Amino acid sequence: MSIIWSSSLLWPYLAHERALPKGEEAMSSSLRWMGLAPPDERPRRMMKVVSLQLTLPVAILTIVFLTTGRATSADRAGASKGTLEAKIAYCQDCHGALGQGYRGYYPIPRIAGQQTEYFENQLRAYVEHRRRNNIMFNVARVLSPSMRAALAGKFRAFNPRPLADGPRGLVARGEQIFQSGVPESNIAACAACHGPDATGSEQIPRLAGQLYPYVVRVLANWSKERGQNPANPDTSIIMKPVAHSLTRPQIEAVAAYVNHLR
Ligand code: HEC
Ligand code: HEC
Repeated sequence: MSIIWSSSLLWPYLAHERALPKGEEAMSSSLRWMGLAPPDERPRRMMKVVSLQLTLPVAILTIVFLTTGRATSADRAGASKGTLEAKIAYCQDCHGALGQGYRGYYPIPRIAGQQTEYFENQLRAYVEHRRRNNIMFNVARVLSPSMRAALAGKFRAFNPRPLADGPRGLVARGEQIFQSGVPESNIAACAACHGPDATGSEQIPRLAGQLYPYVVRVLANWSKERGQNPANPDTSIIMKPVAHSLTRPQIEAVAAYVNHLR
């Protein structure tokens, strides 16, 4: 078995990546043009829905509300230290104190130890409707580029133990798929891109320690949530054939494997 560990695999794909539109003004007007811009009241309503789904304490969600409002105006003045700390606390309310993720009704992914390039690109993807998720759209759209970079650096530095919530019985089969792929279905080894330890590099995300139900959902729904803006194709296209070729049992096995990795 040979593992090609090189992000040069990405070059042909990345060459297609388009320049990102500059400024949130341009973005929101193009979203409005596409009929996608939500009304102003939407963030509040969204957060209410979130509060029911996550069954987090009401007190925490009240703080989430307040920090959203405050940071929106403060962001325009730049990412000051105080603002950054308030933002980090806001992310921690959902993603966990160390970015380890949260096992709720709607799983919230681990962001600890994540590659900064991938992290920042996903935040932009939510805003640009390349990646579909209402919660993170509302979180990300108020973040300035410098704030996105600062948050990516902050969570990259955390290294909590994985929640390890996936079924242990599937780990061995998952390891086989991860390290060697599924040759009969033409599925490349995940390790070829994500690295033998699943820690990723640059635009390729870390999967080690990621929540089991999150990985299962992401792989099962790939084309419903990623690469959603045809005018702006992105790195999600690289994973598309992989996600489509995996069967449900294979998805569960590989999710269980990465979930237990430190
Ligand atoms: C109200 C809860 C909530 C808050 C607050 C929140 N997030 Fe999230 N975040 C989520 C959920 C849920 C997802 C999964 C969305 C999806 O499936 O696309 C997510 C996904 C992400 C992802 C993509 C992870 C991946 O592996 O692709 C990043 C990066 C992220 N959040 C960063 C942040 C940052 C930075 C903050 C603070 C500014 C933050 N989030 C605040 C709930 C939240
Ligand atoms: C050819 C390179 C390549 C291969 C092979 C590959 N991936 Fe990926 N994967 C990527 C890239 C690039 C992304 C980021 C996609 C994006 O930007 O939306 C990604 C993203 C993911 C994500 C989303 C992570 C998150 O935090 O949301 C999961 C899960 C994933 N891959 C699992 C796998 C599994 C399991 C395999 C093996 C069966 C695999 N990948 C094989 C390149 C690859």
